[in-house]
Amino acid sequence: MKKVRKAVIPVAGMGTRFLPVTKAVAKEMLPIIDKPTLHYIIEEAVQSGIEEILLITNSYKKVIEDYFDQSYELEHRLSEKGKTKEVELVQSISKLARIYTIRQGEPLGSGHAILLAKNFVGDEPFAVMYGDDLMMYEKPVLRQLIDIYEKYDASVIGAKKVTEDVVERYGIIDLEDSKTGKIKTIVEKPKREEAPSLYAGLGRYIVKPEIFSILEQLKTGAGGEYQFTDAMKEMMTKEPFYMCEMDGTYYDIGNQFGYLKATIDYALKRDDLKEQISEYIHEIAKEK
Ligand code: UTP
Repeated sequence: MKKVRKAVIPVAGMGTRFLPVTKAVAKEMLPIIDKPTLHYIIEEAVQSGIEEILLITNSYKKVIEDYFDQSYELEHRLSEKGKTKEVELVQSISKLARIYTIRQGEPLGSGHAILLAKNFVGDEPFAVMYGDDLMMYEKPVLRQLIDIYEKYDASVIGAKKVTEDVVERYGIIDLEDSKTGKIKTIVEKPKREEAPSLYAGLGRYIVKPEIFSILEQLKTGAGGEYQFTDAMKEMMTKEPFYMCEMDGTYYDIGNQFGYLKATIDYALKRDDLKEQISEYIHEIAKEK
């Protein structure tokens, strides 16, 4: 069985739900306190054993390329001022992993973006991580998916249980076998009464390279875009897929409330901030 060594992170979406800031700042670069969301996601990849990462970006997102590159000028200026700790911090970012970028000319959908990774991936299984789906975890979530891949030698979809009132927003997993987590299919945004389960597929995948021949033939789906989920759905008719119920907290930072929740939760985990922020939360809760 081939090892999962590579991850593809599409970050070329328009971020329409987070306008106007996304007019100039990629949503994947919005900071959760002092680190961009994408930085946390890349750390999760590295902690999961990923060695090479391809970011699918676009011409408006140069800042992403700059952030993960070396920054000689800043390092030089900081070291001139004797700020050794800060130099180390800045240097550590470009040393996280081998990070490559490729540009998606037009935001034609996640399926279109991931197809651009074909040459990078070659004939290996690979991870897909959405750049706006952030996970807080004890054990790196992508590692949890890789463990399932290694158990079954099959593609894997990361999922979390959601409440009935929100199934209409997600791709809901229809399980063939609830014991092993073998998937029958995915139902896109089902009505509450038609949802086959409460498991939503959320932003982490391990996929075998056979997906690329499907992506090459893919037709547009929801929103007139090439949807990665549609390609996986087709692949499920030929090859096994398993679900990994992800142990961790999920944040969709592509919407405002998800972003705010992540900011608060991460602050509550930080030794230098947790007391202040929790006092502040208690204080304003009393006033409301
Ligand atoms: P989303 O659907 O969450 O991103 O795609 P979006 O299209 O930017 O969202 P809204 O609805 O306009 O607010 C999931 C991931 O796929 C990337 C996004 O950047 C995000 O990280 N993506 C999406 C691409 O790289 N290219 C695309 O054409 C679409």
